[in-house]
Amino acid sequence: MSEQRLWHEVDDYFTDRLLPDAPDDALAAALRDSDAAGLPKIAVSPLQGKLLQLLAQLQGARNILEIGTLGGYSTIWLGRALPADGRLVSLEYDPRHAEVAVRNIARAGLDKQVEVRVGPALESLPRLADENPPPFDVVFIDADKVNNPHYMEWALRLTSTGSLIVLDNVVRGGRVADPDNTDPDVLGTRAALDLIGGHPRLSGTALQTVGAKSYDGFALARVLA
Ligand SMILES: C[S@@+](CC[C@H](N)C(=O)[O-])C[C@H]1O[C@@H](n2cnc3c(N)ncnc32)[C@H](O)[C@@H]1O
Repeated sequence: MSEQRLWHEVDDYFTDRLLPDAPDDALAAALRDSDAAGLPKIAVSPLQGKLLQLLAQLQGARNILEIGTLGGYSTIWLGRALPADGRLVSLEYDPRHAEVAVRNIARAGLDKQVEVRVGPALESLPRLADENPPPFDVVFIDADKVNNPHYMEWALRLTSTGSLIVLDNVVRGGRVADPDNTDPDVLGTRAALDLIGGHPRLSGTALQTVGAKSYDGFALARVLA
């Protein structure tokens, strides 16, 4: 059996036992409609979505910022961690992705709490900051990796002590540690990791993962005082 197949089978095993009700109708429909609309199959896996949800719940999150909505799959997992009066802002560059996401989020019953803002995140973020929002308790960064250091800087501006920043896809099959790889996305992720490691207001770590999404990983950073 190939390694990839084995990782997939173990993910299926965990999903069957730990998430017997997932994907529920709204999550399954979000993936189905995203596929039907031709969106790339790059959403988090169900187990990863549940991890994001648990992290947001552990944070007691009332305000969540997501950078990179796609069809709203991770948005739904995160949005379900919010209290009824909580708020999630998700930033998406592609209007077609955003349109699918808005429908998926409404079907999940989260349209009151979740707002999808369309445009390049580096334009949406200053506008968001101008609105003086309450600090975000969780920021999930999952868009164009080349801008990861800029997203980390904005995340720092829009959070406060105790907030959690999650950066996705930091391993990408091991490319992050390959000194010959100078892909701009890899450089962006390395710069974001350097920022986390060297920043006096951040305490971070990174975890390698295998599974349905192949070999990748997350970085996690807690905002200090
Ligand atoms: C990996 S997908 C997000 C997956 C989603 N978080 C999930 O797990 O369901 C990345 C998304 O970021 C969007 N994106 C890429 N560049 C962006 C930018 N500059 N600003 C905002 N969104 C961007 C892409 O269009 C894509 O929909």
